[in-house]
Amino acid sequence: MIRWTGIWVGLLAVLLVLTACGNGDANTTAPAATVGDPERGREIWDDGGGVITGECSRCHSLDGSEEVAASYRAPTWQGISGRAGDRVPGLSAEEYLRESIVDPAAYIVEGYSGSIMQRYKLLLSDEDIDNLVAFLLTL
Ligand code: HEC
Repeated sequence: MIRWTGIWVGLLAVLLVLTACGNGDANTTAPAATVGDPERGREIWDDGGGVITGECSRCHSLDGSEEVAASYRAPTWQGISGRAGDRVPGLSAEEYLRESIVDPAAYIVEGYSGSIMQRYKLLLSDEDIDNLVAFLLTL
């Protein structure tokens, strides 16, 4: 009798553990890679979105041209999502694009001047940086 009770308690414990693990697995979904809103990102590129005056479109085109309004030579954003993941070994496209905005001096695209990007980290909210990265990943 004592032995049977022991077995039942043991089985119950195993069942409880399995149930707990099962629930945990069912609820674990990988977080989305990018959380931003690409439409808002486009607005900031276009005219600063009401938060910056040094809008990205002054220097970065979406159509492949390199001389934009500010007549600085800057890399076009046309097709950038396809190149971004190859720029810096170990950085995914998303990580590289984020770094280019918050710490532009960390990697200078070959053939361009590295000192003209503003300190957008101080000028833009984290959310708007997410929005810009989301927009860049659509290009
Ligand atoms: C005054 C001109 C200028 C403005 C305005 C500007 N950039 Fe740049 N940007 C550059 C130049 C020049 C480079 C290339 C040199 C370097 O890597 O820093 C660059 C590089 C980049 C790159 C990497 C491009 C690549 O092909 O690897 C990203 C991403 C970027 N800028 C994002 C932004 C965002 C986002 C904004 C607006 C919030 C912005 N830039 C505004 C001049 C500018």
